Amino acid sequence: MVAPHLRQTLHDALLASRRLVIFTGAGLSTESGVPDFRTPGSPWMANRPIPFEAFVASAEARREAWRRKFIMDDSFAGAQPSPVHRLLADFVREGRAIGLITQNIDGLHQEAGTPADRLVELHGNGTYATCLDCGLRHELATIRPVFETTGRAPRCEDCDGVVKSATISFGQRMPEAAMRQADQWAREADLFLVIGSSLVVHPAAQLPLVAKANGAALVIVNREATPLDSAADLVVRGEIGAAFAGLAVAQATGMDSMPVRL
Ligand code: APR
Ligand code: ZN
Repeated sequence: MVAPHLRQTLHDALLASRRLVIFTGAGLSTESGVPDFRTPGSPWMANRPIPFEAFVASAEARREAWRRKFIMDDSFAGAQPSPVHRLLADFVREGRAIGLITQNIDGLHQEAGTPADRLVELHGNGTYATCLDCGLRHELATIRPVFETTGRAPRCEDCDGVVKSATISFGQRMPEAAMRQADQWAREADLFLVIGSSLVVHPAAQLPLVAKANGAALVIVNREATPLDSAADLVVRGEIGAAFAGLAVAQATGMDSMPVRL
């Protein structure tokens, strides 16, 4: 349940913003059936994550990482973008948001139609794989049958390098271009909107503070408290679907003159 006045304040602020930046976490995708990482009982919590260093060093770690990945992929196969994914894509497509920064690896922002040049994935994308040596993209549909018949972790078709899901694991370098773009958008924002993140993983969780330090209003929509709530101008504590219910970009006309007020 989200209090109507709070929902209205959120909607008014979004529609009044002229340089909105959206920052999403796994909480946005739970309504699409993709589990988040830290809600108690999350299947992601069943195993300790395999650090990047271990993945590179050990064939056994790579086999285990691929085994877990395909199990998780099957658990949310066919997940579709939620109405909020689609609303956010509208905000970006209509030019009402200058950029969308996601920590999510599920590809649902792309599927919702978010323009690729206005989307950065800080933690990569789990819908395909790449060679760690030459960067060649590998499709999961090609990799999986070979892995399941041979039990061997995939090697690069071109250079025989180690192939890994295109996600960023703990201990792996962050994607520099994505981080630069996210930082630039955070500095340009007049409103920085965090949706469905516990804001505990850095450096991603610094971005709301970069935006705030550069004059943006900070809004956090999340079921639980986050470490940045005290820095936020507005915290909407509740379900994401309920918080955005009834909001459409089309309403935006006629509010361009209003500065963001929270
Ligand atoms: N409505 C509102 N909030 C929700 C909903 C929902 N339907 N579903 C989940 N949440 C909230 C949870 O309460 C939690 O606070 O979303 C937040 C999700 O937090 P995490 O699971 O920690 O996900 P995230 O913040 O994206 O994690 C960041 O950690 O494991 C790494 O690389 C991984 O990108 C991930 C990063
Ligand atoms: Zn290669």
